[in-house]
Amino acid sequence: MIIRETDRLRIRGWKESDRDLFAEINSDPKVMEFFPFRRNRAESGALFDRIGRGISETGFGFFALALRDNDMPIGFCGLALTDLEPHLPDGTIEIGWRLALPFWGNGYVTEAATALLDYGFTERRLGEVVSFAAPANTRSTAVMKRLGMRPDPNRDFDHPRVPDAHAYLKRHVLYAITADEWTRGIPGRD
Ligand SMILES: CC(C)(COP(=O)(O)OP(=O)(O)OC[C@H]1O[C@@H](n2cnc3c(N)ncnc32)[C@H](O)[C@@H]1OP(=O)(O)O)[C@@H](O)C(=O)NCCC(=O)NCCS
Repeated sequence: MIIRETDRLRIRGWKESDRDLFAEINSDPKVMEFFPFRRNRAESGALFDRIGRGISETGFGFFALALRDNDMPIGFCGLALTDLEPHLPDGTIEIGWRLALPFWGNGYVTEAATALLDYGFTERRLGEVVSFAAPANTRSTAVMKRLGMRPDPNRDFDHPRVPDAHAYLKRHVLYAITADEWTRGIPGRD
């Protein structure tokens, strides 16, 4: 299942052969710097299966991101249903990303996320998409800003699944973009 293709990338469903890459990114200390835990191979495999099931059932989730030329997986980028009541009402859609380290710094995630926002607003008729991260995760908030998302400090929250022992990772800043804002466009975007 291909969601979208861009100049350099393919956003698609997961293949069994992507399992290694998925495990690799979830165990890399640099990739996981702003998460309270790493996942071992078995935990990563269980999550891989769960994400695949969620995509089949709802059409939403963190999709595989692959190079368009050779279909090699490099990470994920997706539109996912949040599970963060009472901070965010059920049905809220977040855009999120995680890329294997060698592929950072190429504009890949911004390229994929731009295509996904377009997909979300035009084909899935979403009203709003949010994204959130620990404030120290400036690479992630930089993607949000490049996408034209705006900070919404009134909706910043303490992430309930981050243990109190990791206090500095608990606070999350929230960025949002509505369908109307997307349609009006980011200056410079085609
Ligand atoms: C967050 C994350 C996906 C951002 O990746 P990224 O590669 O920095 O983001 P982009 O794809 O938007 O690339 C932007 C960079 O590519 C550069 N770039 C190079 N070629 C480019 C091109 N052709 N087009 C656009 N940008 C290009 C930009 O200048 C920018 O560089 P900079 O970092 O020096 O400013 C990545 O750091 C990651 O996977 N982090 C770990 C997981 C994580 O924290 N996820 C978010 C949880 S909330």
